[in-house]
Formats: sequence, structure tokens, C-alpha cells
Amino acid sequence: MDALPLYRQLAAHYQHVIDTGTLSPGSRMPSLRALMDRHDVSLSTALQSCRHLERYGYLEARPRSGYFVRQPHKPACEPVAEPIARLAEPAQYVGIHERVSAVIAQGRLHPVKFNLAVAVAAPELYPVEALKQAAIRALRHDPTVLTSAAVPNGSAAFRAVLAQRALSARIAVSRDEIIVTHGCIEALNLALRAVAQPGDVIAVESPSYYGLLQILESLGMKALEIPASAQTGISIEALELAAQTYRNIKAVVVVPNFQNPLGAVMPDASKARLVEWCEAQAIPLIEDDTYSLLSNDDTPLSACKAWDKTGNVLYCASLHKTLAPGMRLGWLIAGKWQARVEMLKHAQSRANEVLPQLAAADFMGSSAYDRHLRRLRLALRDQREQMAEAVATYFPAGTRLTVPQGGLCLWIEMPGRASSGRLFEQAMLAGIGIAPGVMFSNSDRFDAFFRISCGQRYTRELNTAMRTLGRLAAEP
Ligand SMILES: Cc1ncc(COP(=O)(O)O)c(C=O)c1O
Repeated sequence: MDALPLYRQLAAHYQHVIDTGTLSPGSRMPSLRALMDRHDVSLSTALQSCRHLERYGYLEARPRSGYFVRQPHKPACEPVAEPIARLAEPAQYVGIHERVSAVIAQGRLHPVKFNLAVAVAAPELYPVEALKQAAIRALRHDPTVLTSAAVPNGSAAFRAVLAQRALSARIAVSRDEIIVTHGCIEALNLALRAVAQPGDVIAVESPSYYGLLQILESLGMKALEIPASAQTGISIEALELAAQTYRNIKAVVVVPNFQNPLGAVMPDASKARLVEWCEAQAIPLIEDDTYSLLSNDDTPLSACKAWDKTGNVLYCASLHKTLAPGMRLGWLIAGKWQARVEMLKHAQSRANEVLPQLAAADFMGSSAYDRHLRRLRLALRDQREQMAEAVATYFPAGTRLTVPQGGLCLWIEMPGRASSGRLFEQAMLAGIGIAPGVMFSNSDRFDAFFRISCGQRYTRELNTAMRTLGRLAAEP
């Protein structure tokens, strides 16, 4: 973080001040002169900070009056309630596959016009032409990548770029510690298989990404669902209590940044505490860092792995959401379990194809990747805000939504414990796909919730679809 330019450090300071309400909407931002004096910065640094905050929607410039904290002129929902502190229910074998398959089968039966169920951005938000050129360059340079055996653990060039880019999440690794995988899904599979056996108990956030629950089911492992907040992620107190009660947790899996479906970001202090607690308990921590680059601004978020001193954190990530959904490129930093994961990867699927890795390395090694991420973040922030505004405008009173500061998902709670299963079916008939809450838990606890993606451009047609969804949600 210290590597951030001064103007960004100053902007991050005021972002926090605004987020926490110390400077409320409509109030005047300290003048440029005051910023210079108070923070001992130059005029150009003070101005750059204000422009940065303006670009990210925190400030508005008023002619001849200076900068003001932007008024949230848009309607907003009440945030989702914090989870009730409760003892986690005993771990269970996961039985999610049938639920997920039923949802997917319905989708095939009624092809939808607006698929808001999948957490991915629209194809036009990814840099297709630049990736095509990078792939052509890689092939011209060495066409034998198509005919030679793929390199174990992944291409050196790709792993070197990943190691460099990991520095922004405050992870210091060498390329040799990285194992390239088929998406984050394979990384999670390998991480779980490295540290646990069929029948073992794995602590997960509740609600949890259904893909993780499917993996647990396929590996014959049990999920212990730990309550998670839409603001701050997994409850470490609940995890500690569960560990005292059940005493057989073999691993903890978390998505610390923009959790799917909640959108929560764990504060750095919680990340540090979780890493320390897992280490002290000798429980491996599996971190899924799929979304951290999709934050509202380009201040990097830290990974739990940043606090790992002993290799107890297995860090899983992918390019699916950030760069190239079609390339299926993910990776794993397995710490203490590196050799075991290498063996499992070889046994399970052999090395990844080299061409996509070379194309990705070429693109990610250049500043074009930073420009792409900036554009993607701005587009997603805009779309997220418009979707949230549509929910507040069209959905029945009492609908709750905590708008995340990044990621691809909105997690919405319907009023009066209505069932999102019914909404899912009716929306499907109206050509709109949503992900009902029952997909995100082994229980029916989240039946009144559903997840929608904000990956698509907010067009007039999408606005109509949101109005329809709101009307269906209001039907008794
Ligand atoms: C939290 C989380 N982890 C993993 C994945 C899957 O990643 P990949 O497509 O890279 O395998 C997803 C996809 O939605 C996700 O949301």
C-alpha cells in the first residue's frame, strides 16, 4: 500500500472519512489550500486527490465554490440485516447438486433474455482484440506451443507476471510457488484435496458460493456453515465458537474480498486475525480471491495471504472475472502443500494449455492490463449503482440490499420472508434469470434472498427487465 502515489494515499484517507460519515453528503470538502497545509502536500497533489475522488463519485465540483461530498440523490434500500450471532449448526454432507442442477435445467428449458444469474461481465467489457493480438504474437513467436508437451505447473512467463501482479495484494512470492490451474474451481478442488479427506469438516461462509458447495459435495466433505456479514464477511467469533464446539474442522474457506454472494470485504484487521487464528489452531486457510481487483476504485485490497508467515494459507485466484472468462486460467499458491498440490494437479488434469497463458502473460505484463482494469471497474461501478437504484425504485418496500463497493453481485433480501424460489420461476417465464438464495446454503436459510449480477450494461431493456422483476417480487 505504501507504494501508492501520494495523491492516492490522500484520496484513500478522504474516501474513508466520507464512507464513515465524518464528512456527510453535501458538506464542503476542505479547500485545496487546507489540504496542502493539513497534509503537507503540493497544490498538484491536493488537486489530483480531489479529481480522483470526483472521478470515483465521492465528490462533485461546484463552479467557483470548490469540492463538495456528493449527495446520494438516488433512492437506496435499507442494508441487509447483520447475521444473528448463533452457534453454527453441525457440519453436514452437502446436498446442493440437485438444487443447482434444477436451476440450470430450468434455464435450459426457458432460455432467458437477461441472464442475471451468472456472475460475469458482458463480453464487450473484456479486451478481446488485444488478447487476440497477444495470442497471434505468441503463436508467431513459437508455433510449437501447439505441438509440444505443456510445461508442468504452468508457463514461466505467465507465472512471473502473476508473481509481479500479486505484489498489489501484498503477496510476496516467487513464480516457482505458483501452480497454474483450470480456473479458480480447479485451484479450490486441489487445495481442498491437499488438506482434507472425504468425510472431513470444512468451515465455509454462510451464505457461500454454490460452486464451493458443489466441490464439497463431489469430494464427500461436510460443510460447517459459519454466519457471514454483508459488511465484514465471516464472523471470526462464530468460527472460534464452532471450533470449540465441534473440534474437527479440517480447513476454513473464505472469499475475503467481495464475497460471493454477499459482496462483503473483510477488514484488514479481520484478515490478519483469521490468518493468525488458523495458524494457531493448525487449520489450513483456503483463500478464494476471485474478485478483489473489481473494486470501485483502484486502491488495491490485501489478500489474507499477505499475513501468512508459515505457508498455512492456500491462495486461489483466476482471470475469469477480471480478464478472460473463456481462457479458464486460474492459479494456486499452496504454501506448505506445494508438493502435494503439484502431485494432485498432475494426477487430476496434467498441466494447462500453454497458448492462453502466453497470451495472458503478454497482456498482463503491459500497462494495457491496468487500463483495462480501470475501465472495467468504472463500468461495473456504474452498472452496480444503476442496478441498486432500480431495486430501490421498482421493488416492494422493505426490500433490503447492501450495495458492495466492488465485485459483480447484488444480494437482495425480499420483505416478509417471501420465497425467492417462486420469484425465480416467474422471472424465468418473463425471460429473466436470477440465482435463488437456496443455491447458496445447504439449508433453506436464504430462501428469501436472491443474487443478481451487475455485469451487463444498464440499457433501457435491462431497466424494463428490472421493473418487471420488481413487479413480480411485489406479487403476493
Ligand atoms: C467466489 C468464486 N470462486 C470461484 C469461482 C469460479 O472461478 P473460475 O471460473 O475461475 O473457476 C467463482 C465463479 O463464480 C466465484 O464466484
